[in-house]
Amino acid sequence: MPLDPAYLSTAIHGALAAGRIHERYFRQHPDRSTIRKKGPIDLVTAADLEAEAAFRRLIDARFPDHAVLGEEQAEGGGSGSARCRWIIDPLDGTTNFAHGLALFCVSIALEVDGRVVLGVVFDPVGGELFTAERGAGARVNGRPLRVSACDQLEDSLLCTGFPYSIRERRESQIAVFGAFLGRARAVRRLGSAALDLCYVAAGRFDAFWEDQLHAWDVAAGALIAGEAGARVTRFDDGPHDLFQGQIVASNGRLHRDVLDVIAAHHR
Ligand code: IPD
Ligand code: CA
Ligand code: CA
Repeated sequence: MPLDPAYLSTAIHGALAAGRIHERYFRQHPDRSTIRKKGPIDLVTAADLEAEAAFRRLIDARFPDHAVLGEEQAEGGGSGSARCRWIIDPLDGTTNFAHGLALFCVSIALEVDGRVVLGVVFDPVGGELFTAERGAGARVNGRPLRVSACDQLEDSLLCTGFPYSIRERRESQIAVFGAFLGRARAVRRLGSAALDLCYVAAGRFDAFWEDQLHAWDVAAGALIAGEAGARVTRFDDGPHDLFQGQIVASNGRLHRDVLDVIAAHHR
């Protein structure tokens, strides 16, 4: 059944509103007074909180029976049995944002009966709006997206990220990172998992992997990448699960090679 078009327009409306909130605070840099620590290296800013609150108000007003899972307030809205659940990371790339580095976005997905059917990621500084509906392809600013055609790891540009628990489990992640440095053309760490996945969709990265991600980091980006032709799995090639933490998203051609390198070094 086709999706109600009001869902996509609401997600875009919410993403653009969040982007305006990001920009307003970003211009005030280096006002560090609005930054708090959730953990030793895990930050939250006034922009994260305000963007999520604004989105929750939007969903309450338009779809009061829908649930919302957001990074900053966990679960809320709708009834416990809501069929529709929005999954939002109100600011993905908070560390970049807090340091005045213009690489961040808002990520919004809609899950219906436990399946992500729509994803929107908006980078307000780059002016890129990534959108996808399941089965209908992925777009950036209305233009269709397609993954790269690279089929040699040695010609690839890869991307990864590290969880906030990195200090507790560094060796394995550094081993994997180091192994890819020896195999790929280059490896990047941008600091926004949602944008990393959109860049796989756009063919800018040939593959992306990360461990210990949350559902809000990847719900929208994994759909956008998949709709652009990416293969998206766990490290063991099993089906990607939003709540299991691991993700490998590649152009498909490199998937086996990427999984093999991870398998040889991930502990
Ligand atoms: C983080 C970013 C980062 C990734 C971390 C995430 P946040 O999200 O996506 O790239 O490496 O694992 O937690 O905290 O900026 O929303
Ligand atoms: Ca995030
Ligand atoms: Ca966030």
